Amino acid sequence: MALRKILTQGDPALNKVCRPVENFDQRLHVLLDDMKETLAQANGVGLAAPQVGILRRVVVVVDDQNQMVELINPVIIHAEGEQTGLEGCLSVPGQYGVVTRPYKATVRAQDRNGKEFEMEGEAVVARCFFHELEHLDGHLFVEHTDRLYTVEELEAMEAEEEKA
Ligand code: NI
Repeated sequence: MALRKILTQGDPALNKVCRPVENFDQRLHVLLDDMKETLAQANGVGLAAPQVGILRRVVVVVDDQNQMVELINPVIIHAEGEQTGLEGCLSVPGQYGVVTRPYKATVRAQDRNGKEFEMEGEAVVARCFFHELEHLDGHLFVEHTDRLYTVEELEAMEAEEEKA
């Protein structure tokens, strides 16, 4: 396993539409293992292959049991409700924005051996599904907000709220 470099906003790889995975081979397994190691090291909740420069439909998300789940060729097949909250991205380091997403979602995907399965998520996991799947079509969360905040700004806002 090896750490991969996480690309940041401005890198053209982050704006490309990724191709489906057709070969569930050793190469894919190495990519998945590397993505999981990279995600753990970055302390993130999700990572998409284009973020490490691989233009394939591969995503790793952290579920509500804190386990990493590999999603190959994922598609959202159901969504309901709504949540509005802060969102960030390993490719947009240190910047956060308020984004509205569905509250619940079901994803259909394949595992590393090509076997199809479905996964449900709500709250932060559902937010992660939408955020990561967008990466596969070349989109970043910043497109859903017109204001980004730094950690310092968020802390200052929290302090103001506590005073009030
Ligand atoms: Ni992201």
